[in-house]
Amino acid sequence: MPALLQVEKIVKDFGGLRALSNVSFSVERGETVGLIGPNGSGKSTLFNIITGTFRATEGTIRFNGETISGLPAHQIAKQGIARTFQAVRPFMHLTALQNVLIGSMYGSRTTHGRDQLREQAYAALKTVNLAHKAEREAQHLTVMERKWLEIARSLATDPQLILLDEFMAGLNPTEVSEAVEFIKRLKDRNITVIVVEHIMKAIMSCSERIIVLNAGTKIAEGLPADVVSNPEVISAYLGDSHVHH
Ligand SMILES: Nc1ncnc2c1ncn2[C@@H]1O[C@H](COP(=O)(O)OP(=O)(O)O)[C@@H](O)[C@H]1O
Ligand SMILES: [Mg+2]
Repeated sequence: MPALLQVEKIVKDFGGLRALSNVSFSVERGETVGLIGPNGSGKSTLFNIITGTFRATEGTIRFNGETISGLPAHQIAKQGIARTFQAVRPFMHLTALQNVLIGSMYGSRTTHGRDQLREQAYAALKTVNLAHKAEREAQHLTVMERKWLEIARSLATDPQLILLDEFMAGLNPTEVSEAVEFIKRLKDRNITVIVVEHIMKAIMSCSERIIVLNAGTKIAEGLPADVVSNPEVISAYLGDSHVHH
């Protein structure tokens, strides 16, 4: 069986800037993979290419063995890839439930009736402990609750793969531990996860494998313990003030 996700020789140019150069890796079903690297190293761009927000300049993305690069974003979502955005922007005047419903209508793999979509959306809110705020408008949720709402929105599409982009930025240590536990629980639901984070302790404890980008190039890939002792990773990312604690 092919890997769930295969990223093959992806190049992305923005005008004269090469944001990704020849990035390749694969992710197996059920894996939790950490993606790290300094700001501007291409992590979000890679997510944007996997989800079809951007088109790669060169290279191929395969999902379940089939080429998805070139497909429009909503079709990629329907195949089972969900993501959260680094900047969380819910529809402020819609309720938490309505925000999640929009997500499930956009990305669900199967066509459900209205009641079933509502149920699915409500279940997603429950998973992130926001069911009691289902009827609250997003504008009245705290920053943290909006972040969880973003996760609920992506879960409501019933994804096989979820891409989390700096979800933990700005969280306090208790909230970070909660987020780590939550990511670990996704594994029990057979959801494969790629997580972009700067908090090393968190990424070390929830990732089975870590991929390191620097200036658009993959400089390391391996077990967390090996990656953090890799001299190139230390000099590019871990060794100094790049890391936000
Ligand atoms: N839409 C865009 N247009 C032009 N340049 C972009 C765009 N998105 C990202 N970039 C550039 O691509 C590089 C990688 O950015 P990004 O993927 O956001 O990095 P990271 O998420 O690792 O911090 C940066 O130099 C950034 O300025
Ligand atoms: Mg980013």
